[in-house]
Amino acid sequence: MPPRSLLIHHIGLLCGIRSAHERFVSGASMRNLPCLQNAYLLIENGRIKSFGDMSQAPDRAEEMLDASGRIVLPAWCDSHTHLVFAGSREQEFTDRLRGLTYEQIAARGGGILNSAAKLNATPQEKLLEDALLRLEEIQSFGTGAVEIKSGYGLTTDGELKMLRVIKRLKELSPLTIKATFLGAHAYPAEYKNNHRAYLNLLINEMLPRIAAEGLADFMDVFCEQNYFSVEEMEQLLEAGTRYGLQGKVHVNQFSILRGVQAAVKHGCRSVDHLELLSDEDVSSLQQCDTMPVALPGCSFFLGIPYTPARRLIDSGLPMALASDFNPGSAPSGNMNFVNALACIQMKLLPEEALNASTINGAYAMNVHDTLGSVTPGKIANLIITKPAQNIAELPYYFGRNPVEKTILFK
Ligand code: NIG
Ligand code: FE
Repeated sequence: MPPRSLLIHHIGLLCGIRSAHERFVSGASMRNLPCLQNAYLLIENGRIKSFGDMSQAPDRAEEMLDASGRIVLPAWCDSHTHLVFAGSREQEFTDRLRGLTYEQIAARGGGILNSAAKLNATPQEKLLEDALLRLEEIQSFGTGAVEIKSGYGLTTDGELKMLRVIKRLKELSPLTIKATFLGAHAYPAEYKNNHRAYLNLLINEMLPRIAAEGLADFMDVFCEQNYFSVEEMEQLLEAGTRYGLQGKVHVNQFSILRGVQAAVKHGCRSVDHLELLSDEDVSSLQQCDTMPVALPGCSFFLGIPYTPARRLIDSGLPMALASDFNPGSAPSGNMNFVNALACIQMKLLPEEALNASTINGAYAMNVHDTLGSVTPGKIANLIITKPAQNIAELPYYFGRNPVEKTILFK
């Protein structure tokens, strides 16, 4: 039983303080990270009850935690992962080291189809066991909320199996989890020349069954050359909308197809990847509340361009950071490393990276009402760091785990 009240006292620096009406932060506001020195924070029944200067701290609570010399911040909200998967793909990794590209590996039947073959041959229990270990690991890195996609089934049974695993994870894990249906991740080999038949399967068979079992919160499509065209994505998003599933889509990873405009038109929650970005994309995003999501771990691992995050932010846009944890393009769910990459490679300030990984990540999975900031009434999902003076220290010591403790409630 968690304690009914927990007082974190003598906090060196309490960060990410926001009012309840702030859904996300954008543009120049992203470099603003409201903090309080020498603070206390009181948790009651898993919710943030109050916080303030140490001189105002209540003198008792059921449990007390000393955070002197440490930073307390909202737990990471990782809005884009594929962390239910079977086996691994280090063979493809070494093939890439020898000079093959991600696209070349996919073209010869590797990539997503390789993971799909492995997943379909793996029992549900084993997938669950492996995913639980991955969740434990990302929790130790400070993640408190995570979105998980299907998309390695690509058959009705395989997709249902993945989504049922995610449903079990929601019940078993202390993390807050959102599920996304990504049946449109790749065309299975047998549908290579009959896209219509696979689209029909997705729309007329998988979607109704997933909706009937309440297995998905969002819907995703990999919009890319040799994967799903913009027109195909639009049909899928339209079908998803009929079942109440908002889109969170993969766009502009290897090519600009005008997927951003289609996603905006269909009211998508987020557009993810954006390693490539046109001026038109920037202006489309300026007209809506769709969250751009950058995945620097994928750029790092594949050696592809980083999302031009400075351009997004300097155009007044918001952006979120996520890990993309998956066996092919980003085999790590470490959000501390994602923050370090965002600073070192994408030139985000530590404050911008922190906002992108907390409140903006929460918005990208529609949990910003309850998570992503230090706000009275929100769920008390918090990181307590190892001894640290200021938030720049966190990405500065890249590759190190700065998290001493992740406090999670539901
Ligand atoms: O986000 N781009 C598409 N999907 C994943 C990669 C999936 C895989 O290679 O298994 C991504 O990078
Ligand atoms: Fe992805």
